[in-house]
Amino acid sequence: MEGGSKRLVVVSNRLPVALSNEGGRWVIKPGGGGLVTALAPVLKNRGGLWIGWSGAKGEVDIVDPLAEFSREAGYSLHPVYLTEEEVAGYYHGFSNEVIWPLFHDFQSRCNFNPTYWRSYLDANLKFAEVVVRFSRDSDYIWVHDYHLMHLAFMLRNMGVPRSCGFFLHIPFPPPDIFLKLPWRAKIVRSLLEYDLVGFQTGRDRSNFISCLRALLPEASISGRGNEVRVTLLGRTSRLGAFPISIDFNAFANMASSGEVAQKTKDFRDALRQRKILLGVDRLDYTKGIPQRIEAIRQLLIKFPDLRERFSFVQLAVPSREEIPEYNALKIEIERLVGEVNGQFAQPGWVPIQYLYRSLPRADLVAYYRAADIALVTPLRDGMNLVAKEYCASNVSETGVLILSEFAGAAGQLQKNGAKLVNPHDVEGVAKVIHKAFHTDIADHRRNMHRLRDSIRKADIFWWVDSFLQNAFSRHLNDFPPLEG
Ligand code: ADP
Ligand code: G6P
Repeated sequence: MEGGSKRLVVVSNRLPVALSNEGGRWVIKPGGGGLVTALAPVLKNRGGLWIGWSGAKGEVDIVDPLAEFSREAGYSLHPVYLTEEEVAGYYHGFSNEVIWPLFHDFQSRCNFNPTYWRSYLDANLKFAEVVVRFSRDSDYIWVHDYHLMHLAFMLRNMGVPRSCGFFLHIPFPPPDIFLKLPWRAKIVRSLLEYDLVGFQTGRDRSNFISCLRALLPEASISGRGNEVRVTLLGRTSRLGAFPISIDFNAFANMASSGEVAQKTKDFRDALRQRKILLGVDRLDYTKGIPQRIEAIRQLLIKFPDLRERFSFVQLAVPSREEIPEYNALKIEIERLVGEVNGQFAQPGWVPIQYLYRSLPRADLVAYYRAADIALVTPLRDGMNLVAKEYCASNVSETGVLILSEFAGAAGQLQKNGAKLVNPHDVEGVAKVIHKAFHTDIADHRRNMHRLRDSIRKADIFWWVDSFLQNAFSRHLNDFPPLEG
C-alpha cells in the first residue's frame, strides 16, 4: 500500500478471532465468520486494521500472539481491554439487556438500568480512544453493530475528525417500540454522526427514518433508494440498505468435498435414512426455538403418518450464558425437547435430536447438506445467515428452506423460492412442513436452484463492495478503486 493512501479501519465489539487460555498461555485462532473472510482482502490491500474487544475480562497479555496473527494476516489487530464492570454494564447490560431485546421487538425483556447507559457511553469512549491512537486523519473508519452506536459521536467530541461509516447487523425497530428507550433521541442523534449508516433491509431504514421524524423533526430528509440524505445542524449523513450475506463459494465448495460427503452419509446412516429437518441457531430467545419445537409437536399430532419418518435435529450454540434470560431459555428448551421426545419416541426412533454446542465447520456443513428441510424460524432477525448457509451447502439442490417472515432474509429469499411462515403460528408451520413432505421433488429442485443462484450473486464480497463503494462515493477522488 502506498504511504499516503487511505486505509480502512474496522471496529467491532469483538475482534475477529477466538481467544483461549491454554495452560496459562493465551492462544489466538482466526475467527471463521463470513465478515472477516470478506474484509480480510480489503484490509490487506489497504494495509488496514481491526479494533475490538478480545472477549476476556481485564488486561490480558495478548500483545505477542496478536502481533504474530497480524503478521500472518497482513493487517493488524488492536485490542480494546474491558474491565469486568465494563463487560457487565456495557456488553451484558446495555448492549444485550437493552438494545438487543428492544431492537428485536422484545421490549418486555429490557432492563432500562441507567447505570448500563453510562457504562455504554464509557465503553464507546474507550473504543474511540483506541481508534484515535491507531488511526490517521485520512483513514476510513467502518464501525459494526449496536454495541458501538456512539463511537462517531465520541470521536467528534474529542475533536478528532474521521470519515466514519456504520452498519447495524440487527433490525431497527418501528417508533412504537423504539420510543420506549429512555435514551432514544441521543441514540438517533449519535447515529447521525456517521457519514453513512447502513441497515440490513429497507424496512429497517424506514423504521429509522420514522423514529427520526418523531424525535428530531428539525432534521431534513431527502432522496430515495440508497441515496437518502439527512441533514441536521449543517451535517449530512446518508442512509442505505445493504443485506449482508455469506461466502457462498466457501460453503458450496466445502459441501462438495469428500470429507463432508462422508460425514453427510454418516449422519444419514445414523438417522437411518429418515428425512432430516434441521434447526441451527445461537441459543437466543429471538430465534424462536421453543415455538419451532411446538411446531414439531403439532406436526406429530396432526399428521400421524409422519411419525417415525423424520428426525428433527436442533443444533444450538451456547451464547451469552451470563445473562439470566439465556439460561432460562436453555432450561425451557431442554424441558420441551424432553417432553416431545417422551410423548412420541418409539423403540429405535426419537423425534428430536438436540445438540447444545458449537460444531466444527465441516460437521455443520454436513448437517446442512444432509437436511431435507431447514427450519429457519426466528421471531425477529436482522438477516439470518443460517438460511443462506443452508442453501449454499445444499449442493444436491433438493432441500426446502422454510423461513420466518420476520427474518431480514425473507424479502430477498421469498421471491426466489423460500417458504415463508409466521413462527408464532405453530399449526401453520406444521402444515407447511407437511406440505413440503408431499411436494414433488422437481418443485424443490427448481426453488433451491433459484435460491442458490440469488445468494451466489449477492454474496459477502458483493456486500462489502456495495457498502464501501457507497461510502467512498463521496470521496471518489481520495480513494483508489476497490480491490479484492
Ligand atoms: P446470529 O448472528 O444472530 O447468531 P446468524 O444466523 O446470522 O445469527 O449467524 C449465526 C452464525 O453462527 C452462522 O454463521 C452459523 O454458521 C453459526 N452457527 C450456528 N450454529 C452453529 C453451531 N452449532 N456450530 C457452529 N457454528 C454455528
Ligand atoms: C449477533 C450480533 C453480533 C454478535 C453475535 C454473537 O450476530 O449482531 O454483533 O457478535 O450476535 O453474539 P456475542 O454477544 O457472542 O458477540
